[in-house]
Amino acid sequence: MKLGFIGCGNLAQAIISGLILKKTIKPQNIFARSRNLNNIKKFSQKNKIKICKTNQEVALNADIIFLATKPQDLAAALKEVKQLSAKKIIISLAAGVKVESIKKNFKSNPVARVMATLSAKIQSGVYGIYFFNCSQRDKKIIIKLFSSIGTPIVCKNQGQIDAITAGSASGVGFVFELMRLFQSWFIKNGFTLHHARLMAVETFLGAAKMAKHEKRQLEGLRNAVTSKKGTTLAGLKSMKNSKIDKKITKALTDSKSRAKELSKNF
Ligand SMILES: NC(=O)c1ccc[n+]([C@@H]2O[C@H](COP(=O)([O-])OP(=O)(O)OC[C@H]3O[C@@H](n4cnc5c(N)ncnc54)[C@H](OP(=O)(O)O)[C@@H]3O)[C@@H](O)[C@H]2O)c1
Repeated sequence: MKLGFIGCGNLAQAIISGLILKKTIKPQNIFARSRNLNNIKKFSQKNKIKICKTNQEVALNADIIFLATKPQDLAAALKEVKQLSAKKIIISLAAGVKVESIKKNFKSNPVARVMATLSAKIQSGVYGIYFFNCSQRDKKIIIKLFSSIGTPIVCKNQGQIDAITAGSASGVGFVFELMRLFQSWFIKNGFTLHHARLMAVETFLGAAKMAKHEKRQLEGLRNAVTSKKGTTLAGLKSMKNSKIDKKITKALTDSKSRAKELSKNF
């Protein structure tokens, strides 16, 4: 299987690094182009992937073509790509670009719109995938590819892609903010920044790992650390009284609305 990347910036490099580290794809089977080839010289040399001089060259070499430019640069990049075999799979990584506008350029190709994250580099994270005109075989190939670097979730509609944009892609940012609040609170209790950061991160990591490996639902896990009249209960009561559930739900909903709004431009 050969992969081509039209655009090879932050996200494409994270995905390529993840796939190579996991040995999903051999570096010599990855072709990439950026607008200014000097920008990917170091990365391509380090990872031994092939640089192409045109986007058409990327497209001709690849079985799966990733569209990884900024949304506003996509139209110019795709002008170079002509007469593709209908077998080639197109995967658009461009945030907010609807599948219908991708299809204008690739009428007879299977297309998938994917919401990815930079944590691809550490083979982690959620990938929201919306398939359009994909056969069962195409779907299997795409899911297998993303399974090797994280957790693919198939979306029923593009509204769910907006939800994954908010809850998972931006969600990582919300979790960083919560960790930062824990860190500040530890500092207020006299710990150094070093220890405060470590404890905040390890607390989230420990909870996430436990949630991943245990079969119990999240509610059950929460209850397991909550004893009658205990310290967890005191904190949980305070969270409930401050209506944190409504506030977090609103933050996620506002973020999803913004994703929907941005996609109106493309
Ligand atoms: N970064 C994220 O966390 C993230 C998360 C979810 C979705 N996305 C989406 O992923 C896409 C890429 O984001 P990014 O952060 O990786 O952006 P980026 O770092 O700016 O990378 C964009 C790449 O596109 C190249 N490019 C621009 N015009 C081109 C053209 N005409 N032909 C070939 N290549 C061209 C750029 O080349 P030069 O550097 O030479 O200009 C660069 O390699 C965006 O659509 C974004 O919405 C990103």
